Amino acid sequence: MAHSIFSGIGLGMRTTKVSAAVRERLLRSARKVMKNAYAPFSNFRVGAAILTSKGQMFVGCNVENPSYGMTNCAERTAIFSAVAKLGPDLEICAVAVANDHGVPCSPCGACRQVIYEFGPRAIVFYQGEKGPKQSLITDLLPEGFRLK
Ligand code: THU
Repeated sequence: MAHSIFSGIGLGMRTTKVSAAVRERLLRSARKVMKNAYAPFSNFRVGAAILTSKGQMFVGCNVENPSYGMTNCAERTAIFSAVAKLGPDLEICAVAVANDHGVPCSPCGACRQVIYEFGPRAIVFYQGEKGPKQSLITDLLPEGFRLK
């Protein structure tokens, strides 16, 4: 059940806390799905796993295109997959990102905005400049855009 895998979600709570076990499960899933990436142009495979407030997990990988701008990042693939399955009424609590080069890789600006739309309190796990890191999406994207 949701409350058994994470805490800090609920009325008045501003941040999300995820247990180490859940964080590792998300990171493992991100590393696994990374292998499905279609990345012949950059040769940089990325995997992402997201956790919803109801405890469901969705994964995604980057899918590139020779018209480079059409590329979809792993994070957005995971989120769009969740919306396709659940509909838009979902909250993202956590996002984990992995890449096959083991280099620093936080979500790009476009993905930060998409994470924020569905998870304004989300926590993001990624490889930082000095090793594994976690940040609130609001720290990665201050003053994210909202249209409601
Ligand atoms: N990429 C992601 O999928 N997620 C990120 O967080 C950073 C970048 C992808 C996009 C592109 O396919 C490749 O990495 C190189 O930029």
